[in-house]
Amino acid sequence: ASAEKGGFDTFMEKEIFDQPDAVRDTLLGRTDSEGRLALDEIRISEDGLKNIDRITIVACGTAAYAGMVAKYALEHWTRIPVEVALAHEFRYCDPIVSERTLVVSISQSGETMDTLMAVKHARDLGANTLSICNTHGATIPRESDAVLYTHAGPEIAVASTKAFLAQITACYVLGLYLAQLRGGTYADDAKKVMTELQEMPAKIDELLGHLDRVREIARFMADTRSVLFLGRNVGYPIAMEGALKLKELAYIHAEGFAAGELKHGPIALIDAGQPVFIVVPGPDTPHGLHGKVVSNIQEIRARGARTLVIAEEGDEAVVPFADEVIRIPKSAPLLAPLLAIVPLQVFSLELSTAKGLDVDQPRNLAKSVTVE
Ligand code: G6P
Repeated sequence: ASAEKGGFDTFMEKEIFDQPDAVRDTLLGRTDSEGRLALDEIRISEDGLKNIDRITIVACGTAAYAGMVAKYALEHWTRIPVEVALAHEFRYCDPIVSERTLVVSISQSGETMDTLMAVKHARDLGANTLSICNTHGATIPRESDAVLYTHAGPEIAVASTKAFLAQITACYVLGLYLAQLRGGTYADDAKKVMTELQEMPAKIDELLGHLDRVREIARFMADTRSVLFLGRNVGYPIAMEGALKLKELAYIHAEGFAAGELKHGPIALIDAGQPVFIVVPGPDTPHGLHGKVVSNIQEIRARGARTLVIAEEGDEAVVPFADEVIRIPKSAPLLAPLLAIVPLQVFSLELSTAKGLDVDQPRNLAKSVTVE
């Protein structure tokens, strides 16, 4: 069993360390010599794809958070409106789809019943369906009109880690593919973004080598009853995924919020010693979002929160308001989720271990939920 785990104590830890490869392999062989991107399987006409005027992403759990990250990138690069629906809600909400809708499902296993039923429903309503899946030949890709496989390799730990990074990567590829196909402002940028994406595995690798302090913080926090997570823009779904990891693995109450929403309610939760992770957008993020999140850190610190700040290397503005600064390498703002989630995964892994829990098989959860 130890050999299967590559020398790590748990599958989850191995899978966290597999992440540079999961991203690298998902990007492999995607472009031809002219830099044109391709999907793996496609049974939709080029005209059909060019005419898409709406994208709905359906997924559950961690895959749905990958979809929420994807929304920001897809809308920015393609200018097509994107909606993210939990698969089990989609089917029962009288969804608006037409033959010009692309319904994108995201599923590691390709067997999640809720997601499969959403895909079938979309197809029955005449939509085009595209599956982003980690399992070759699984039911969902077989039932879909187009497929983009993630290459994370088998994921054994129940809580998803490397599949999440691979799903986000595949969504970026889909966004750039659609941008190229449809022409327009971002078609020419696709090559540049692909180059930035190719640089991410080395950055994840570097980050994985610098997480000793996160582990230490997690061990000190083994008795914590509640942890909050804040993020903005692509950092918002990362905050929610960070919270989900902590619920799943350490059975601790955790909640992710959009940082801008803080003043509209959640700030009432802040009292002395409340631990809060803040995913800080890089200083180059458009619209001054970095400064706004730094103000949020200042506000909660003034109310006694213990601020655990995830910020880019060289971002000194956060330092005065941070109890801890966890550094991630610099990256393009839209690609930063591939880095920002990693310390949060390691935090939950370590905290779960410190509590003596079964990291790979958390209570009450199944790797693949094949019932509705
Ligand atoms: C289960 C797992 C989660 C996973 C979700 C979706 O609930 O415990 O970790 O995110 O299913 O799984 P899928 O295979 O569709 O990505």
